[in-house]
Amino acid sequence: MIKRLSNKRILLGVTGGIAAYKSAEICRRLQDEGAEIRTAMTSAAQKFITPLTLQALSRNPVHLDLLDAQTESAMGHIEVARWADLILIAPASADFISRLAQGRSDDLLTAICLAADCKVVVAPSMNRSMWEKKATQNNMGEIQNRKIDILNPGEGDQACGEIGVGRLMEVGNIVNSLSEMFETHSLSGKNVVVTAGPTREAIDPIRYISNHSSGKQGYAIAEAAMEAGAAVTLISGPTNLPVPARVEIVNVGSADEMLEKTLNIIERTDIFISVAAVADFKVESPALSKIKKTGELKLSLELSKTPDILLEISKLKNGRKPFTVGFAAETENLIKNAEKKLREKDLDLIVANNVGDPTIGFDSDLNEVTVLGHELNKSFPKSSKKTLARNLIAFIAERCLESIAYG
Ligand code: CTP
Repeated sequence: MIKRLSNKRILLGVTGGIAAYKSAEICRRLQDEGAEIRTAMTSAAQKFITPLTLQALSRNPVHLDLLDAQTESAMGHIEVARWADLILIAPASADFISRLAQGRSDDLLTAICLAADCKVVVAPSMNRSMWEKKATQNNMGEIQNRKIDILNPGEGDQACGEIGVGRLMEVGNIVNSLSEMFETHSLSGKNVVVTAGPTREAIDPIRYISNHSSGKQGYAIAEAAMEAGAAVTLISGPTNLPVPARVEIVNVGSADEMLEKTLNIIERTDIFISVAAVADFKVESPALSKIKKTGELKLSLELSKTPDILLEISKLKNGRKPFTVGFAAETENLIKNAEKKLREKDLDLIVANNVGDPTIGFDSDLNEVTVLGHELNKSFPKSSKKTLARNLIAFIAERCLESIAYG
């Protein structure tokens, strides 16, 4: 069975209301779908259900305080906000919704929501009269305007003995709704090829030249394209990453091999996204057996250029060239160098990535980029590589459709 939330990181925020006990079930059902869960509770929530319950179920410490010296150095509100692919507040009390509407950040959960760049989803639960009040409805309107998603409460018997609208949405429906939110359909029917990871260029049968690329950004982009409805092939150099569900993987070693496998499928590709950190040079003639130490203090290797895969694809003629997106890995003159690559490699878009900054570099979980196109420049602020991947895919899908529409 396909787990609809595999590899997804969900922060479950619990506020003070009788439905808080259902958060334990929500946690379990989201885990059943493959999600990794962390939890945060307001102080009122802790009066209804203990942090120990959520700690045991989520197998992670529960985030409780905004100004906790220990967690602020390990996983404070900014880190938790960046960690999450999605934040679900369930149940969300009338008071919490009102504080969210005001943009407050004087407790942990409101601060996390304010700091988050990922999707925030609110599942209200309260007495029907509190739900109906203009104050609550105005607050709901306000948070909806800010693109916070609402899982509308259901109608029925309430814990207070009344009957009406205000019950927390059924747990199964919450899980279904979250799963659907990760699927955007913006690339339905499209074939997308993503290259990712480093390449390895052999020196002899046991040694190679390579680089520090982890493949994280490329894998996240392949997964985001799949969630957007595309049929995705990921052509990957060696990495330690799990292959995203429903993505077809083609494992390669060298740049030559990556080019060959890419050319094999490019005819039926609509969008080519070149995230791989392809080695620029290879050993001219790798030794056929292990190079032994000799009396010499130096060893010279003759290197020659590897093929530029991206350039080869962008040179394709007669309607065979897909919508082509490159990445520019730079340590200096980021925008200038990226613009040069955009022009020289004749790309539709280039993602300028400062790999010299260790906080967003090759092995980090975070990234921050600027996308350049012809007369176009859009910055994507620092966020998790997964969140960034989704935002990039949404942007690429828009630009690609536009280019088809206007030729
Ligand atoms: N690329 C490629 N094949 C290569 C080298 C690069 O397909 N042999 C692609 C990368 O996947 C990326 C883009 O070209 O999308 C730019 O790669 P980058 O390493 O930033 O630049 P290079 O073109 O290699 O130039 P330089 O190393 O001089 O910055």
